[in-house]
Order: sequence, then structure tokens, then C-alpha cells
Amino acid sequence: MKNEVKVRKKITVVGAGNVGTTTAQLIAERDLADVSLIDIVEGIPQGKALDIQEACPLWNSSARVTGTNSYADTAGSDIVVITAGLARKPGMSRDDLLLANAKIVNGVAENIAKTSPEAIIIVVTNPMDVMAQLTQKVTGIPHKRIIGMGGVLDSARMRAFISLDVGVAPGDIKTMVLGGHGDQMVPMPRFTTIKGNSISSILTESRLKGIIERTKNGGAEIVGLLKTGSAYYAPAASVVEMIEAIFGNKEDPLPCSVYLDGEYGIKGVYLGVPVKLSSEGIEKIIELELAEDEKEALFASAEAVRGLIKKIGI
Ligand code: LAC
Repeated sequence: MKNEVKVRKKITVVGAGNVGTTTAQLIAERDLADVSLIDIVEGIPQGKALDIQEACPLWNSSARVTGTNSYADTAGSDIVVITAGLARKPGMSRDDLLLANAKIVNGVAENIAKTSPEAIIIVVTNPMDVMAQLTQKVTGIPHKRIIGMGGVLDSARMRAFISLDVGVAPGDIKTMVLGGHGDQMVPMPRFTTIKGNSISSILTESRLKGIIERTKNGGAEIVGLLKTGSAYYAPAASVVEMIEAIFGNKEDPLPCSVYLDGEYGIKGVYLGVPVKLSSEGIEKIIELELAEDEKEALFASAEAVRGLIKKIGI
């Protein structure tokens, strides 16, 4: 019998807050990889990692989950997920976190560049599109290996709201939310279907408008309810969806924030568009044929991201 050695993947999650810890939990629960959870606070990543490790027998998972305060322990990761940073408080937009989180992500990126230069990096920290661009700039890692998580979450929210409104299973619904993961995100009703039928043939214009507005406001709605933090179950599940695609377990393209170099007529900025992910990172950017108003909305979203990029001078 051939002795096959399965090489286990290693995923580092930076930030042992709610999004980071839930991401670590989902990775371990699905036995997708070993997990290194890192945070600057002593004891928190170690304690949370150990708690997740102790759940693994119950999930029949062989994942090794470790917590650390030292980047040396994260070395050689296949994927690094950056969640470190401040979360919103009620009344704040994602953009209000810009300066504080840029400082944090800058430090994280410097460490990742030294310890896991071959990794694919998934950026979650807000304002996410700008933080992805900053991470690329600081690490010098090729654009195709730095991907922002936003569109998967926004599209999942839109599917959830359609599912609740229409009473169909989320699995029958396809949506696409493009643009920056901010107030100017661009839900695409023309690319939204239920069992293959266009959403506009099923919902009245005003119901659809309500769903679009709720999607755009999806993060803030949760911040408003929690008051002390922002969403984490759906954000973590969205990161894991991207990890599954990178590992080749998902076929469909996903809307992710990627560096555009002329695609969609936009150049030099990270923005959410549909992409095919693989073990190389971004395998392909998919260019949808957009109508004039959709293009305008995407350009406006790109300008909003550009404005923030200018503010931090990258
Ligand atoms: C949200 C944060 C994670 O949309 O951006 O909930």
C-alpha cells in the first residue's frame, strides 16, 4: 500500500476578536486546516484556541488550533486572514475606522511579509477595500494573493433578506453585490435570480428597493442592535466560503475585493467584483456586461475608496 502523507494546510487568523475567533472555529469545525490564532492581548488567543481545540473531538476534526502573541508561530501559513482592528459603534460608518485601523493593519502586514510571504491574504478589517490595498502596499505580495472579504457577505445578506421576504430557500437564490464594502456598495438586481428567474419578475419594485436598502445597511443594522460591536457570524462564514474556494471546494465565482488594473474601466484600486479563486489566489477576474447606470454606481464606489486611499497617502 502506498504511504500517502496528507500535508495539512495552515491558516493564520490575525485578531482574536469575534470575527477572528468565529473564523478559527469554523475552520476547525470543518477540519479545513490547522489554525494559528494571533492577537496582541496575552492569554486571549491562547485561551480561545484551546477552547476550540477541545471542541475538535466532538466535531471529529483533527485540526490543531494554537493561540499565540508571536508572529514566529504563524510562519509558513498558506492563508492569513486579517481581522485585527476596531469595530464600529452605533452611528459610525466603516470609513470612520480608517486612521486607527490603518495603523494596526500596517503593523500586521509588516509581520506577515516577514513570516508568511507565500501566503494568500484575506483582508476583513474595515474599511476593507482600503485595508486590502494597504496590505498589498506594505507587504509587496503580488495583488493576486491579496483579497478583501466584503461582497460575499453583502451578497449573503441580500440572499437572506430575499429568502425571508419571498419564503424561498437561500440555495435557490443567486445575487451579486459589487463595489466597495461601504455605504456605496452596488447590489445588482439584474444579476439576482430565484430558481433562475429574474428577481424583478417576482418582486415589486418597492419590495426590491427595500431589500437593496436593507442590504446596504446590513452591517449598520447589526451594529445598531449589538451596540458594542459589529457582526461576526456572517462575516466569518463569508471568509470560510472564500477559503473553501481557494482550496478548490467551490466552483462558483465569488464577489471579492481585488486590485483592478483596467477591468471594468477602473484602474489602481481595490474593489468588489466577481472572481474565480484558486490555490494561486485570484485566478480570474470575471467581467460582467454592465448597463450604464450599473457602471456609474461602480465608478462612484471606486471613487469613494480612492478618497480614503488618498487620506492615508498610499
Ligand atoms: C459588516 C462588517 C464586518 O458588514 O463590515 O458587518
